[in-house]
Amino acid sequence: MVFAAIQHTPAVDLPGAIAELKRQRNAVILAHYYQDDAIQDIADFIGDSLELSRKAAATEADVIVFCGVHFMAETAKILNPSKTVLLPDLEAGCSLADTCPADAFARFRAQHPDHIAVSYINCSAAVKAHSDLICTSSNAVDLVQQLPADRPILFAPDENLGRWVQAQSGRELTLWPGSCQVHVAFSEQALLQLKLEHPDAEVLAHPECQQHLLDLADFIGSTSALLRRAEASPASSFIVLTEPGILHQMRLKVPGKTFYEVPGADGCSCNACPYMRLNTLEKVWQCLHDMAPEIVLDEELRLKALAPIEKMLAMSR
Ligand code: 13P
Ligand code: SF4
Repeated sequence: MVFAAIQHTPAVDLPGAIAELKRQRNAVILAHYYQDDAIQDIADFIGDSLELSRKAAATEADVIVFCGVHFMAETAKILNPSKTVLLPDLEAGCSLADTCPADAFARFRAQHPDHIAVSYINCSAAVKAHSDLICTSSNAVDLVQQLPADRPILFAPDENLGRWVQAQSGRELTLWPGSCQVHVAFSEQALLQLKLEHPDAEVLAHPECQQHLLDLADFIGSTSALLRRAEASPASSFIVLTEPGILHQMRLKVPGKTFYEVPGADGCSCNACPYMRLNTLEKVWQCLHDMAPEIVLDEELRLKALAPIEKMLAMSR
């Protein structure tokens, strides 16, 4: 079936064919930094999770092609029920979101009835619906600091991000034991070797990395924050501890500087997110052509998941 569909993909000038379909459908293409370079190059907007949800909330297009993973496209649909939201590959999930099934999360919440439940945006709509507030890696510290000092807080699903937020905000968090398979795969040995080879390089890390790697970082932040740091830093080379898709924008934005990715253990390429990388240029064309796969959500669930997302957008500075 997939083979038959892909037969229709134009053999030449795929970016041109996508631009034409996009115009016909009045569509916008939003892409996360972990997408393949070719997808980033045809996107109307590239950003981190917070920026992408803001863009999704503000767009006037009829169709949103979300080049990212399922929870990101789902968030766009929660914010835009009347728009068609397409995800080029419906299998593009998230290992971190998978560590937090909604029924188990609901039980966790019930065990802590007095806690405020803060969930990282990397979770399903059903988990969002059980949460009081959503955050992303770029606003988590600030949002947690805004919560009433006398209320205890649950944080799900990323325990590494949660520990970092705890240290930065000074608030104690009860953590859900989840993690991202990509950000726990980086090899400490490879990082130390890169630091030896490039002693002047600054180490930039995403807070989903484990503590022992964050301890070796010079700067920690969301994908957009890492990109901004690469531009603003006086350093001329950087070792980047996050999915290597971000290196494309770093090299485009700061062409005079050098960027090194950190491999997974034994040099494996497990530092690339296997879910993000399911989207391809061909599938972007195909989804605009077929107007599928589309994100569809139950309205009751959507409204429950919308409340903590809207709270996040209102509290974000
Ligand atoms: P950002 O919000 O920093 O873009 O992170 C998204 C993500 O999935 C990290 O693994
Ligand atoms: Fe999920 Fe990790 Fe991929 Fe981000 S990098 S989308 S957290 S699996």
